[in-house]
Amino acid sequence: MRIVRTISEIRMALKTLREGGHRIGFVPTMGYLHEGHAALIKQSTARCNHTVVSVFVNPTQFGPKEDLAQYPRDLDRDQNLCLKLGVDILFLPETSEIFPTGFGTFVEPGSLGEVLCGKFRPGHFRGVATIVAKLFNIVQPDLAFFGQKDLQQIAVIRRMIRDLNMPVDIVAAPTVREADGLAMSSRNTYLNPEDRKRALCLQRGLLAADAAFHKGERKASKLAAIARKELSSADDVQYCQMVDAYTMEALDGEITRTAALCIAAIIGKTRLIDNVVLSPTDEGVQFINHLDPS
Ligand code: PAF
Repeated sequence: MRIVRTISEIRMALKTLREGGHRIGFVPTMGYLHEGHAALIKQSTARCNHTVVSVFVNPTQFGPKEDLAQYPRDLDRDQNLCLKLGVDILFLPETSEIFPTGFGTFVEPGSLGEVLCGKFRPGHFRGVATIVAKLFNIVQPDLAFFGQKDLQQIAVIRRMIRDLNMPVDIVAAPTVREADGLAMSSRNTYLNPEDRKRALCLQRGLLAADAAFHKGERKASKLAAIARKELSSADDVQYCQMVDAYTMEALDGEITRTAALCIAAIIGKTRLIDNVVLSPTDEGVQFINHLDPS
């Protein structure tokens, strides 16, 4: 595995790998890798000839009162995991390499970035779209892998690649969960033992809505209400909303297309998100595995 820190180095390394039409897979991360990241890396190594992982804690996607300074970091562990999983290139740029003095061009995701998490984290998706666009320009991958837990992030990135004609396919991989169902997240490390138990209410809400959906309930507001009932142990519920799984548009009536029930809740001092995709056809399966059908 090659560890590279500069844009010119990674471009040189990839030029050689790309020769012969080799397929490049890319897993962008902010580090502190867990089983969810490992699943993305495994998908990439299975489907591509070469896999690039980036570890970069992107300051532009954190609000002024958010956890940029505390965001967990463990580069040695990340490096070992990438090595074990057969990553070809690990890209570890410094902030100044990515955002040199005078940097001033951003990607605006528009209204898609202003709903759900965007409402509570203004500017977050502008920061995500900008860093992902930059990383795509640097790595020029054929396939890029993202976890379904960050469903709105996937929607923003899919919209961006369509709107800006970026030649990359996005693969959305299913959320990886702890044994008790908590969605894996680097931020789970902030939860104390009592909060860790309370955090399971998100999964309980999603499971209750999923069970009702599979018994035939199709009314979006009813399904959201079923999930919300389980969230009483959260300190705050920022949203518990049924949306179109591609456009993130709020759904209120009957579910007739692939939808997602999305939750953001505060447990102690930690903000957690999770979702379940609910599909009246088997399109839900396609959603996980591949691209926006539009
Ligand atoms: O999902 C993440 O870890 C980040 O938002 C990403 C995509 C690496 C961009 O910084």
